Amino acid sequence: MIMKEKPEWAELATFVPNKKLPVYNWFYYKEGFSRDLVFRLIEKFKLEKGDTVLDPFCGAGTTLLACRQKGLESAGFDVQSSAVFAATVKTRDYDLNALDDAGKELLKARFEKPDWGTTSAFVRRAFNGHTLDDVLFFRDRIMQVRDNAVRDFLMLALINVTMKCSYAWKDGAVIKIRKHPVPPLRKLLKRQLRYMLRDVKGFRCTEAGCRVGFGDARKMKLPDSSVDAVITSPPYLNKIEYAKIYSIEDELFFSGMGLTPLRSHIGMNPDRVLEEENKLEKITDVSGFNPQTTAYFSDMHEVIKELRRVCRDGAKLGIVVGNGCFPDGVVDSDVILSRMAEHAGFKASELLVLNKRWCTRNRVEKVGITRESLLLWETA
Ligand SMILES: C[S@@+](CC[C@H](N)C(=O)[O-])C[C@H]1O[C@@H](n2cnc3c(N)ncnc32)[C@H](O)[C@@H]1O
Repeated sequence: MIMKEKPEWAELATFVPNKKLPVYNWFYYKEGFSRDLVFRLIEKFKLEKGDTVLDPFCGAGTTLLACRQKGLESAGFDVQSSAVFAATVKTRDYDLNALDDAGKELLKARFEKPDWGTTSAFVRRAFNGHTLDDVLFFRDRIMQVRDNAVRDFLMLALINVTMKCSYAWKDGAVIKIRKHPVPPLRKLLKRQLRYMLRDVKGFRCTEAGCRVGFGDARKMKLPDSSVDAVITSPPYLNKIEYAKIYSIEDELFFSGMGLTPLRSHIGMNPDRVLEEENKLEKITDVSGFNPQTTAYFSDMHEVIKELRRVCRDGAKLGIVVGNGCFPDGVVDSDVILSRMAEHAGFKASELLVLNKRWCTRNRVEKVGITRESLLLWETA
């Protein structure tokens, strides 16, 4: 395997470039990567119209949307309600007039005090009273819209501005509450709908098929050998607890909509840890993992085997992953996952290092360097 530094692609592995892109920026997904990373991999893999690209950890749908723009078929799965929802809304076709009419209708609606009913104390702390009133009022109005596509479009606009008007601040794996002046929600919603309508009007897309759904990357509803390429980024070891940091969106917008998150998050199922430890040691040549690390790699081992099942011969894979940082040192996830890939029947051809950071203990004491890498594999 070739290991090369590629710092000029570092920003592409973040959501930052997407913030200015129409449709891509409808939902801010902190853990996402950029459209341009997907475009470059499509080019590098020489994918052609009609090919199918899979993102087993699709997040807010960047891979799927980029593929749709390039005329490639795509499929994506995730366990996070808000991510699956955003990916679905961003990859649909719309009737512009229906959206316009529904948006106007919504903004014309006369405010009525909503019932705060089952909102948790945490959510109540995350907003000032007027904002929460507005959020619940608009949410309940939008729920009455009959057309699924129109309703979801309006709801995504509301989710977007709700988080901009909240006191919640996502700091790594936790949500902090910081009171500060917030803009009026109704005004922001009007502006957001205007932007989103403008995006729908001007967005250049194709009619390529795109399937997004709730699903676990370890067991995907896809036939054997049906995928030509995989462009994805799994959760990073000990980095993000997605379910926790999107809990406000989940409680306010998804509890009543049948989008219940799965419990099986990568790295969060320590039950099988002991029996897996020996197996992993043989595959990776690494021993002495802590239980969390063993759980993570044992889950990722399942994912890699599943990827081998669904990938056709000659398929190409691009996987962005970060290494683990613990007080007693760094875990090189990029190298370990590449070894697992070889074991599962892939050729791990390249490891491109995009980013390097100090891993510290107690915030100051350096214990090693963590890499964020792009792994390039193909079916052997
Ligand atoms: C690094 S993010 C991917 C972001 C995505 N590339 C984007 O640009 O939006 C990893 C994603 O994996 C999802 N995830 C965690 N466990 C999963 C599982 N078992 N199956 C499928 N998705 C999972 C998380 O909810 C999260 O959205």
